[in-house]
Order: sequence, then C-alpha cells, then structure tokens
Amino acid sequence: MPKILVIDDDRSICETLDLYLTEEGYEVKTALTGTEGLNAFVETVPDLVILDIRLPDIDGFTVLEDLREEDENVKVIMITAFHDMETTIKAMKGGAFDYIHKPVNVDELDMAIRKALKAREMERKIDGLLMEPSRQFKVGDIIGTGREMREIFKTVGVVSQSRTTVLIQGESGTGKELIAKVIHNNTSPDEPYIAVNCSAIVETLLESELFGHEKGSFTGAIARKLGKFELARSGTVFLDEISEMSVNLQAKLLRVLQEMEFERVGGKDRVRVNARIVTATNKDLKALVQEGKFRDDLFYRLNIVSIHIPPLRERRDDIAPLIEYLLTKINRDLHKRVIGVSDEMMAVFLKYPWPGNIRELENLLIRAVVVAKGQVLGRSDFPELEEDLAAGKGTPDVVPAAGASGQRLMTLDEVEEQYIRKIISEYGDRTKGELCEILGISRPTFERKLEKYKLHFERE
Ligand SMILES: Nc1ncnc2c1ncn2[C@@H]1O[C@H](COP(=O)(O)OP(=O)(O)OP(=O)(O)O)[C@@H](O)[C@H]1O
Ligand SMILES: [Mg+2]
Repeated sequence: MPKILVIDDDRSICETLDLYLTEEGYEVKTALTGTEGLNAFVETVPDLVILDIRLPDIDGFTVLEDLREEDENVKVIMITAFHDMETTIKAMKGGAFDYIHKPVNVDELDMAIRKALKAREMERKIDGLLMEPSRQFKVGDIIGTGREMREIFKTVGVVSQSRTTVLIQGESGTGKELIAKVIHNNTSPDEPYIAVNCSAIVETLLESELFGHEKGSFTGAIARKLGKFELARSGTVFLDEISEMSVNLQAKLLRVLQEMEFERVGGKDRVRVNARIVTATNKDLKALVQEGKFRDDLFYRLNIVSIHIPPLRERRDDIAPLIEYLLTKINRDLHKRVIGVSDEMMAVFLKYPWPGNIRELENLLIRAVVVAKGQVLGRSDFPELEEDLAAGKGTPDVVPAAGASGQRLMTLDEVEEQYIRKIISEYGDRTKGELCEILGISRPTFERKLEKYKLHFERE
C-alpha cells in the first residue's frame, strides 16, 4: 500500500485528504508544520508527499529542498492558493513533481498522485534492474591467449583499482563492451552499469538521456527525467561509439569531465557525477582528432587509459579457445550438446578474415548449433561459408600454398567486399538489420561498407 504524507497547516484540509486518500487505499500520515512534516518523512519514508507552500514555521520551498536532501528522488506534489506563474516555476525548479491549486480538485489530485506513484515505481524498477549486479562476467570469461590480450587483462586489473576514464578501441565485435563490463564488475559490481550508444539517437535526445531534463524544458518533457550520469550513481557510464557524438555534446561532455558536475537540461541545479566513464569506438579517434572531427581536449580526457583490442584475424590463436568457450555458452542457452567443430571447419575458421570479429564467430556458431544434427559441426552446418568455399573465393581459400606462383593474393578489402556482395545476393530478401546480424557488424558499419564498396541494399 503506497504511503502518502500530507503536510498542510490547514487542519481541515489534512483531515479531508486523510479521509479521502485512506478510502482510496493509501496509507496516510499528516503533519501541520514543516518541522513536523520533515520528522514524519524521515520516520515513515513515504512514497509521495503532498506539500502546502505556506506553512507556519518553514516555508514550503525550504521544506521541499530539505525533503530532496533526504531523498533526491522524492515525489512531491505542491499545493497552494497562489496562482502565479512565478510560484509554479519556482516549485517545479525546486524539484516538485507536480503542482496543484487550492481549492483542490479531486480529479486533478488523483491524476497527479497516480502519475507520481507511477514515476516512483518506474524509478525503483530501473534501479532494481540496474542494481542487479551482472556478475556473470569475470576477467576469466574473456578469452585471450596472446601477449596483447594478456596486457589488456593487466590494464583491466589496474584500472579497476581506480576510477579513471578508459577509452576502449577496436573493430566491431572485438569485445569492447565486454571489456567495459568487466572493468565495471571489478570496480563497482553493486552499482549500476549503464550503456549509452551515442550513434543510436539524435543529438537532443542524447543530451537529455545523458544529463536528464527538468519538466517543461522542451516540448514533450512532461516530467523530470534523470539522466544516465545521475542514474549510474557510483557505477559506470559506458558511452559506446563515442566518435559519433556531435561537436556540441562533445563540449558538454568535456565540461562534465573537467568539473564532474553538470545541470539537467532546462535546470539550474548542479548535479555531481560520481560514475566512472568508459568510452568505446571502432574508429581511429586520434585520426578523427587530426581531421578536426573530434575535439582534441576531449580526446585527451577520455584517453587517460586506453585499451586497444586487436581484431580476431590478428590473434588467430584465440579462435580455437573461443570456439570452445562460445559453444559451452551456446549449449547452455539452447540446451544443446555440441562438442566442437570438424577439423576441416577449424581449418577454414583459422584462415577466415573475420570482418565481424568475435560477434561474427558467435553468430555463426549460434546458427550452426540451432540447425546442427550431429555433435560436431561440419561444413553442412555453415552454409554461409560453404558457398564461398565452393566458389573458391571470398573466404578461406584466398591464400594459395606458399610458393604457388603467378597468382596475386587478395587483399583483406577485396575479401570483405566479395563476402558482403555474396551475402547481399544470397540474402537479398532479408532486412538490413538481419544482414548486419549475419555479418556481425553494426548498422553504421554496414552503411559505411556499402558506401566504400559502392554496393546497394535498400530493404530496411
Ligand atoms: N575475448 C572474448 N572472449 C569471450 N567472448 C568474447 C570476447 N570478445 C568478445 N566476446 C563476445 O563477442 C560478442 C561481441 O562483443 P562486444 O559486444 O563486446 O563487441 P563490441 O566490440 O562492443 O562490438 P561493436 O563494436 O559491434 O559494438 C559478445 O557476445 C561478447 O561476449
Ligand atoms: Mg559494442
């Protein structure tokens, strides 16, 4: 049963509201002064406060401030006899959830209460979800055998002892987000981990996603919304595809990093940032800085510690252990019992260029396990590769035996182009999103590749 605290010096209003709200199924507590109200708040921890602006001892705005100091997410509905805009604005800026006038209209009050409690519940749910520590990722769960990967593990260990900003670079599907989660789980496992993809949303929305906004700060801002920096508390904010952030937001992010404080969109309150910031990109951020597309001062702030994950084709020793690891995971998820891939397939995998890196490998294995009849995955379980193999191009057999003369070797770009061409012609009836999945690459990457190789694919 939601608890409501009513703070109003008018005894008759307290009594009427008490009667009415109790009947509506709420647990009600009333207080006649600001001090009494604040004490009752600390004692009962209500879900919602209905607060009169004019009180005999402390004025309502100060009470509101004190309440928010106790619980910054407190939901407060202010009531007053004043009708002027100034008071309304002041109340909303002070962090009130809603504002209604005396004499109180029951429908209006009902609506405000329901909205406030709903917002409260949503926040709790989000908090709950975020609080759920994603402990399933330990450093041990990142497969990596070579020197470079071992260095990465070391760096992860070192940064987990501090809260420095980390920049993770690597091609699509190399495990950037995985590393970000591992850093988080080793630093602040009980705090929220919040990922934001900077390329997925338009600038203005991204801004309010990150910083939150005050009610009414723009059309559609019907309620105050907390931004990711605030929601992450002392956890981690992971900013993915940071290279796609607009110049304007880059400037704002820089300020946040410098001051570790910010204001919500349309607000004046300074909000402290306690979260650690981890960013990732599959572009060469330094090159973008040199081209003037990314702020250099921001780059240096983000790049305090940098982790570069090598593409899978540069660490082929990891392919076999990855297959083993991924198959265990996939078997568990799909209730299957596949034990491995055939020698023939393994040979193919070891030569394949893996443009989509580990995600591509994972996707290939998932699809193969789903259709597999036997316990060992063979050629017939990987139709995507079979066609290319049979055609003798696009994938593994592009490298002739050493010493074979008179044959020019294909470049990686040529291999990639052929493979994408092939997938488009074979799977032309699918949507763009499905093709991205097959290729194991993100949509922006796919678009870039289409442009690069002058290919066309229109089906959304
Ligand atoms: N070293 C690794 N060991 C085990 N699994 C890995 C490893 N690297 C990546 N993966 C798995 O591969 C998949 C892709 O990784 P992730 O999403 O972290 O890549 P990404 O670099 O963020 O890709 P993108 O740039 O496309 O967003 C995930 O399912 C992840 O768990
Ligand atoms: Mg990612």
